[in-house]
Amino acid sequence: MPSGSDFVKRLDSVDFPAAPEVIVRLSRLLSEEWVTGEQLSEVMALDAGISARVLRLANSVYFRGQGVRSVEEAVLRVGVDGVRDVVFALSLLRAFKPLHFNYHTFWRHSLGVAQTVLVLQQRALNISTPIPEAYAAGLLHDIGMLVLDRTLGAGYGTILANAREQGRPLFEIERETFGTDHADVGGRLLEVWRMPTALTQAVAGHHAPLVADSPAAHLVHLADAICNQHAVHHGTAYKPATTLPEVWDELGLHEADLPGIVTEMYAGLAKADALLAAAS
Ligand SMILES: [Fe+2]
Ligand SMILES: [Fe+2]
Repeated sequence: MPSGSDFVKRLDSVDFPAAPEVIVRLSRLLSEEWVTGEQLSEVMALDAGISARVLRLANSVYFRGQGVRSVEEAVLRVGVDGVRDVVFALSLLRAFKPLHFNYHTFWRHSLGVAQTVLVLQQRALNISTPIPEAYAAGLLHDIGMLVLDRTLGAGYGTILANAREQGRPLFEIERETFGTDHADVGGRLLEVWRMPTALTQAVAGHHAPLVADSPAAHLVHLADAICNQHAVHHGTAYKPATTLPEVWDELGLHEADLPGIVTEMYAGLAKADALLAAAS
């Protein structure tokens, strides 16, 4: 395994992957107050494989549909936000495949966190208006792992194996080994991609939510912890024993509601599994 300084040197020359055009266009739509089915159709036309997949999903039991034949009909059935989030997820899952860890486990965790972010957001008393970037933030929160995977090669697989063996959070081992972590690297990637600030802050701050003054970071942090506690992890199987009470308070959520939140998280996982199946 390369030494720590070798890792740092390679991180200095990180070659950030380009964002899929669909993701760039969708992230611009996040800041618009009103998005139409027509705009979504235009974005979807950029990726030949996406429309059929979206319609298949819209017709599945998980998305309450049957007989949906067009994007406009899908929008009527699951809403503009629902279709936008599905297109975002399908595009990411098709574009980014890890080399040194498991694709299915990683994306199921990311999709599970994204769904759980929506569950928490709906219940959070301190979030009166839904954050447009919330689902994307959940989906992208561990994207830095994919950059490290490409940059560090097999060495990153070793770091993951160490985290798993030691039963410790991955970001701690990353910081010890090369002085930064996947949250920081993910944040830098989203800056390179010129993603909205709220999205970048949520991804960069998901392992330091009390430092990040960002409701989206709080949502992602808590959703990540709840998923990890229930074995919906990205591959290292780390289970946090507790969650931070300050984050519950910041969001206006009560820990006593956890059983209900977990039930909704599992319902969201059924959608995540349908998305994973549709992406392949
Ligand atoms: Fe993470
Ligand atoms: Fe995570």
